[in-house]
Amino acid sequence: MLTIKNNIFWVGKTDWELRRFHGDEYSTHRGSTYNSFLIKEEKTVLIDTVWKPFAKEFVENLRREIDLEEIDYIIINHGEIDHSGALPELMELIPDTPIYCSENAVQSLKGHYHKEWNFKTVKTGDKLDIGNGKALIFVEMKLLHWPDSMACYLTGDEVLFSNDAFGQHYATERLFNDLVDQCELFEEAIKYYANILNPFNPLVEKKIKEILALELPIDIIAPSHGVIWRENPEQIIEKYREWAANYKENRITLLYDTMWEGTRVMAENIARGIKKGDPEVEIKLFNTAKTDKNDILTEVFRSKTVLFGSPTINRTILMSMAAILDGIEGLKFKNKKAAAFGCYGWSGEGVGKLNEMAMKAGFELIEDGLKAKWMPDAEIMEKCIDFGERIGNKSR
Ligand code: FEO
Repeated sequence: MLTIKNNIFWVGKTDWELRRFHGDEYSTHRGSTYNSFLIKEEKTVLIDTVWKPFAKEFVENLRREIDLEEIDYIIINHGEIDHSGALPELMELIPDTPIYCSENAVQSLKGHYHKEWNFKTVKTGDKLDIGNGKALIFVEMKLLHWPDSMACYLTGDEVLFSNDAFGQHYATERLFNDLVDQCELFEEAIKYYANILNPFNPLVEKKIKEILALELPIDIIAPSHGVIWRENPEQIIEKYREWAANYKENRITLLYDTMWEGTRVMAENIARGIKKGDPEVEIKLFNTAKTDKNDILTEVFRSKTVLFGSPTINRTILMSMAAILDGIEGLKFKNKKAAAFGCYGWSGEGVGKLNEMAMKAGFELIEDGLKAKWMPDAEIMEKCIDFGERIGNKSR
């Protein structure tokens, strides 16, 4: 058991092996942690559990620390299986222990496990006294990122248990934000935001304002994945406010897929043109068939303009580009510009299809698109450079 502060202990699981999360949807290059917390005041409280494959290990470890019968309350901030997965194993041993959760979490927990446990539903502002002058105050976090999501705040110790919010898929034995590599930490935090929370931007800002309006001093933010924010926890709140405000940096990203290298050649010449148009802007190129999709989505999140390139195949675009555009649409990026390009041999519908998908995903098209018949020659390369230069200028 690792001490977080006073009588608050970390009893979670560090998953060094994890490389894919949410099935195959989210890459976790640096593993993850499932943070579970034990509070031992007059009452003993368990906050969240761990992912199902580690249920047995979790319960055995917990048993080594305390008599499970001593647990007075279980708090489940969110029903998703990475946090509630050990409940069935645990509840076999302490079946009557009350589980405090949101009304929506009763649905998700029953939906996952088909059990009638002793649920106690709570709403924003409800308090649970745990003795020694301390209480847990609940704050519903609807749609951040599930309808059942909730956070709770421990008075006295001033700890916000925020569940998924402010988390990162980042395995570390070091536990606290001030002890880890800051570049790695923020890379994982921004990836997590871009890939999971971006669709809920307006709610993030609203919820942060609501929490700040409670005027509760926050000494520590303890999310359910990654490190615990104990040094300057406000920094991650500030980052979330920045990220929630339709975030973009001075970056242009070119995403393309290619069959016989023609569309790649176009992408590289367009990039040369962008540099002519705006020497200051950061330009990155990614082949969507060869690059991790979540890393690409993070790059899109950070960009002010995104270019989509694909040759025409079967009157449409290559599959990796179609898939990434579908993912981009789901993440509801706003205030970003786009343009399309691609090679073709016969009919040439690719660029039109890319334009259509980019607009559907909420991008503002700043060019009609650039098509190249067959392999780009010197003339087409010049056209690509001009196209890029215009994009560089129009993106300023
Ligand atoms: Fe970490 Fe939404 O589960």
